[in-house]
Amino acid sequence: MRHQKMKGLILSGGKGTRMRPLTYTSAKQLIPVANKPVLVYGIEAIVAAGIQDIAIIVSPETGPEIRENIGDGSRFGANIHYIEQDAPRGLAHAVLTAEDFLRDSPFVMYLGDNLLQHGITPLVEEYRSIDCNSEILLTRVPNPSQFGVAELDANGRVLKLTEKPPEPKSDLALVGVYMFDEHIFEAAKAIKPSQRGELEITDAIQWLLDNGFTVHPHIVKGWWKDTGKIEDMLEANRTVLDTFERDVRGTITDDSSIEGKVVIEPGAQIIDSVVRGPAIIGADARIVHAYVGPYTSIGNKCSVERCEIENSIVLENSSLSHVAGRIEASLIGKNVKIGRTHRKPVAYRFMVGDNSEVGIT
Ligand code: DAU
Repeated sequence: MRHQKMKGLILSGGKGTRMRPLTYTSAKQLIPVANKPVLVYGIEAIVAAGIQDIAIIVSPETGPEIRENIGDGSRFGANIHYIEQDAPRGLAHAVLTAEDFLRDSPFVMYLGDNLLQHGITPLVEEYRSIDCNSEILLTRVPNPSQFGVAELDANGRVLKLTEKPPEPKSDLALVGVYMFDEHIFEAAKAIKPSQRGELEITDAIQWLLDNGFTVHPHIVKGWWKDTGKIEDMLEANRTVLDTFERDVRGTITDDSSIEGKVVIEPGAQIIDSVVRGPAIIGADARIVHAYVGPYTSIGNKCSVERCEIENSIVLENSSLSHVAGRIEASLIGKNVKIGRTHRKPVAYRFMVGDNSEVGIT
């Protein structure tokens, strides 16, 4: 078997424009799915594949927060280095930014906003065992024009890769996990920025194909999520919560009911409430006279009082109280307060950040 030693590269730079306003104050890769930052799923998948030396690409804006949350990697059994990319100039530009770190061994590149059901261990093993310069992951999607798209020949070999084609020739999208040897640096240096002004990894892989290097496609079974938008986050949250086993800690009063696959973390209090899984209630959260319905993740230290909520994600330390209608399909940031006031005139009162969305019936 070749490539005994591999490294990991996680891309966690970028602007996260589709997740504003949350990404004004926080990196999109730190938004939690089932109470765990998306980025952590990637780190764990790489470590599970036997790779400990990992670099995370960060932007100047989000680097400090990502470092603070993830640390040196020791709690994941990894050595994590941080590499700052001056601006989001594309995935291939990010690879070049990390060239010094990566040059001496093949590597797996993992987009920090991607989630794969079965992790990447079999894929890394496959790449280690076959003779190719790069391995790419593909999956069938209903909306290929939003991704990199691959055309394969009758023998399943890659013919062509195109980034977000308006008229896709196939429904095989590039999943955000790639394996490369050192030839990718030559490729990334040879290509030109795309129409959106980025050095596309898709174009760099096409360069490998055009220059006689081997690119092995692997069709991914099981689900894969790119968590770029709120609907994707909620869907990823539902999918991950579905895999949970019931694990109830915390304090639950007798007049409460905990139904189905529910995780309640230590220190949480459930008082005169119904929690219907799949759901997770974070540590030290308080659920009082409330209903938390399926596919909901309530963050640590949140308070939900006299409210009904389902199919939603609430980040830590937020408080929801006395909301008359049911809260649904919502993504609520950190330290948010939604509640009733007694001030006159009786009216809605908002203090909502730029690019927020509030829906009322
Ligand atoms: O999710 C799969 C798709 O990811 C592929 O199908 C596409 O071929 C590939 O180009 C990529 O498309 P996106 O437009 O979704 O990539 P996005 O800009 O969201 O960036 C992906 C991750 O990489 C995200 O965590 C931010 C980070 N990033 C992005 C850029 C452009 C960087 O670290 N540096 C960058 O310069």
